[in-house]
Amino acid sequence: MPELAEQPGRLLRRQLVDSRASSIAGRHLGSLSTDPTAIDSVAMKVPFFRPELNDDEVAEVVSTLRSGWLTTGPRVRRFEAEFARAVGAEYAVAMNSCTAALHLATLALGLRAGQVVLIPTMTFAATAEVIRYAGAIPVLVDCDAERLHMDLRDAERKIENLRTGHLPPSIDRDAEITGMVPVHVGGVMMDIASNREFAARHGLWQVEDAAHSFPSAWRPEGSEDDGDWQRCGESTADVSCFSFYANKTLTTGEGGMATTGDEALAAQMRSLSLHGLSNDAWGRYTSKGAWDYRILAPGYKYNLTDIAAALGLQQLARAEEMRLARERIALEFIRQLRHVDELEIPTDPGPDRIHSWHLFQVKLRPGALSIDRDALLEELRELGVGFSVHWRPLHLHPYWADQFGWRPEHLPTATEVWRRTVSLPIFPAMTDAEVAHVVASVEDVCRRHRTRSVSA
Ligand SMILES: Cc1ncc(COP(=O)(O)O)c(C=O)c1O
Repeated sequence: MPELAEQPGRLLRRQLVDSRASSIAGRHLGSLSTDPTAIDSVAMKVPFFRPELNDDEVAEVVSTLRSGWLTTGPRVRRFEAEFARAVGAEYAVAMNSCTAALHLATLALGLRAGQVVLIPTMTFAATAEVIRYAGAIPVLVDCDAERLHMDLRDAERKIENLRTGHLPPSIDRDAEITGMVPVHVGGVMMDIASNREFAARHGLWQVEDAAHSFPSAWRPEGSEDDGDWQRCGESTADVSCFSFYANKTLTTGEGGMATTGDEALAAQMRSLSLHGLSNDAWGRYTSKGAWDYRILAPGYKYNLTDIAAALGLQQLARAEEMRLARERIALEFIRQLRHVDELEIPTDPGPDRIHSWHLFQVKLRPGALSIDRDALLEELRELGVGFSVHWRPLHLHPYWADQFGWRPEHLPTATEVWRRTVSLPIFPAMTDAEVAHVVASVEDVCRRHRTRSVSA
């Protein structure tokens, strides 16, 4: 039995706190040796992400395939219980994606057509599309320029602008504003106290898009008390939705989980994830069986399979080990790229965050390079460095611009910052040579294209 599953509550928090302390003390630093001349000598390709499954994970999936039970069953139940313990949640409902979890969380909270939900423009398609599934309307909110989190000051402005008729006219100024969906971009959590205060003041429910933030934790700014740590999913919102997509920090290939402290919400999400059947219909998946279920609502087919849960259980057991591997790489990137003046690099997340390091995002410093972000990406591609961009903001996509009238000037920070943003490869199986190749390639491109103002 994995350590995390045995005593997850205290142990994970302890591990998270310990790893935080040890990385701050620099114990992870200096262990990678990167050679800046590597760029000349090695023809290497570093993918943006490379999944690496160990023998235990493969064996557990094979054993599930041979068990005669493929769909939702005992492994899903165990995965839910162990995941809930790992994040400190009372209830966890497994689903086949984070998108499904976001959808059912908002439905369980009562989202109806015509209502308005505050959504960051700096996010993936899923965060906002689920609001449209219900016929409700996202009001897009700008981000801060550093962590790319939803900017609560802009959220205030957007509420004010909605009421005074200064948002796109497609959005009814009298619509009821009912909820918000903050996103912990890249795995560093937003300030939970501020989110709570904002939601309470405006009477909003909160569904947290935690697709990137397992395992992540937060404590109030200035706190030095280990007892103040709260893990993402430990009642950090009404419902927290995690992704187990192929490149996420814990993967089941495709999969997701909703956690909550509210029994009724959990029951409703569970029922909706299986055709809206009565909850005892889950007995169909036990030896007891349940032939006489009841349909309570027109639900969905969002249940996770035991095949996926088998992988999830094994990944869960080494989630913190994988996080530490990513943290080590992130700290090494920070150490080695710190002197590259053309870039803004992430800072250490500080004493009040434990970062999952799902993403390592850098930004081009304005005016520092003679080429733009897209040209830089092209050069990185030629040098064999994989990358991604998180994200083209929602308001710069045709659907949101054309159907709702969002314009760049409504969301100026996201409009400006996304053009400078690049996500570099970071994954637990990344080798020292791969880290060195990424560093050397980034340095090389920046050196060749720096403008005089910075190099002088
Ligand atoms: C912020 C965010 N939310 C939601 C999702 C959707 O996750 P899934 O693919 O599990 O539905 C993603 C996927 O990348 C994401 O990045």
